[in-house]
Amino acid sequence: MQTVLTQPFSDQKPGTSGLRKQVTTFQQPHYLQNFVQAIFDSLEGYQGQTLVVGGDGRYYNREAIQIILKMAAANGFGRILVGQGGILSTPAVSGIIRKYQAFGGIILSASHNPGGPDGDFGIKYNTSNGGPAPEKVTSAIFERSKVIDEYKILEASDVDLDRIGPSTLGNTRVEVVDSVTDYAALMESLFDFDQIQQFLTRGDFRICIDPLHAVTGPYATAIFERRLNAPAGTVQNGIPLEDFGGGHPDPNLVYAKDLVKIMFGDNAPDFGAASDGDGDRNMILGRNFFVTPSDSLAILAANATLVPGYRQGLAGIARSMPTSQAPDRVAEKLGIDCYETPTGWKFFGNLLDAGKITLCGEESFGTGSNHVREKDGLWAVLFWLNILAVRQQSVETIVKEHWATYGRNVYSRHDYEGVDSDRAHDLITTLRGQLSTLPGQTFGAYTVGYSDDFSYTDPVDGSVASQQGVRIGFQDGSRIVFRLSGTGTQGATLRVYLESYEADSSKHDQDPQVALGDLIQLADSLAQITAKTGRTTPTVIT
Ligand code: G1P
Ligand code: ZN
Repeated sequence: MQTVLTQPFSDQKPGTSGLRKQVTTFQQPHYLQNFVQAIFDSLEGYQGQTLVVGGDGRYYNREAIQIILKMAAANGFGRILVGQGGILSTPAVSGIIRKYQAFGGIILSASHNPGGPDGDFGIKYNTSNGGPAPEKVTSAIFERSKVIDEYKILEASDVDLDRIGPSTLGNTRVEVVDSVTDYAALMESLFDFDQIQQFLTRGDFRICIDPLHAVTGPYATAIFERRLNAPAGTVQNGIPLEDFGGGHPDPNLVYAKDLVKIMFGDNAPDFGAASDGDGDRNMILGRNFFVTPSDSLAILAANATLVPGYRQGLAGIARSMPTSQAPDRVAEKLGIDCYETPTGWKFFGNLLDAGKITLCGEESFGTGSNHVREKDGLWAVLFWLNILAVRQQSVETIVKEHWATYGRNVYSRHDYEGVDSDRAHDLITTLRGQLSTLPGQTFGAYTVGYSDDFSYTDPVDGSVASQQGVRIGFQDGSRIVFRLSGTGTQGATLRVYLESYEADSSKHDQDPQVALGDLIQLADSLAQITAKTGRTTPTVIT
């Protein structure tokens, strides 16, 4: 065992989802090692315990895993479970931590950010419930990273990550496990695989699944093509590549280009889905039809009892604050609570652990349930397919019937990526300065009902998260929310979330960008987006 002297880096503050930086930053000598040691130094009682390690297969994944295995062994973990080839999706890690009662897990991923030598890399720590480390753990890690002066690592040859089975590193047992088996078994315990299989092999319902060259490739191929017998070729772009084929592994209408072309083309399949770099996000499409993630959560909640794993009903649901209020309407009808949390999956953990909620989701293509403690892309796809197999209707019909019942929460998010960081912060600070004077003011058809900077008190442990996004709510229920991304690695990303409510079904077919037109203009004039960022149009609209 070696104890290596090191000096702290000042920039190892975890963001919305772990520490995310450019690959070149991680490649600096001691950079990864410092952070990993800071994680271990912030934990107590892991001697002899189990650690789960895996990543999304992006560039630097294998190197990072070898370093982490040797450091975990040197620091006294008793057993390490690592995915074959270093591959484990984020939800799979969460499931494995829970199934084997591990102490925690380390996931290597920068989620939907591009990969390759010039792309991004990331590392996050998950605790024994399988979920992202809560704020108090991530701040302890950051504090430790600022003063760290040494780390421990074993001098040993590399573990063969491709061969399934056990080996040893010093006194630590390392088990290379199949990346898919446990996850697929968990899915089979929740959904009616036989019914989905019959539906997919009947011949008149075609699906197309696009992992965007990222981690869900092997999972999707095993589940859809092998277990559920969907035709070969159902999964496209299914081999995880270190640079995701040069693409941006983010399942939205802009980045999932191949899939969008197929689903909005001639003779399109009936159902399409994509997932992100580490497999926790999902995009659901019907033939020529896009399902907004906020609606997806609402629809899963409304139809949950059609699915075996949720037949007993839902304890409650939760959505992140910027997510549309469509799920709230379903909760109201079901007579269950709907919690509103800050952006980021870690805020759902306590609610799930306390049994207060069963389903939860975010507008950013994240949906999940109490089966793990991460959002879960393929879980959402299977949930939809199970509902479709039961209802035998098209995706579009199911969504439109939902709108007819509950009204439509028309929704869109506008992202301004790579904005100068000082300008973006100035925009938010200026908005905060206006908050007390906005209520009561009228802009065209809109009168401000409330305006605040969202603050959340966790109902389970009482912890408070403040300054989670500027909300401007209008008297007719419309909202505009402004916040800065906590996951970007270059400059700042301004996110503007727009929502209005339409009860009249004759207007449900309107393009959201048209229906939200006035609010979009109002957002620009309230926040001075063009003047302050120099941008006239968003980089990405979802
Ligand atoms: C983004 C999403 C957020 C999600 C996170 C991790 O964070 O907006 O909902 O939990 O990625 O996938 P942001 O960049 O907005 O901080
Ligand atoms: Zn992700």
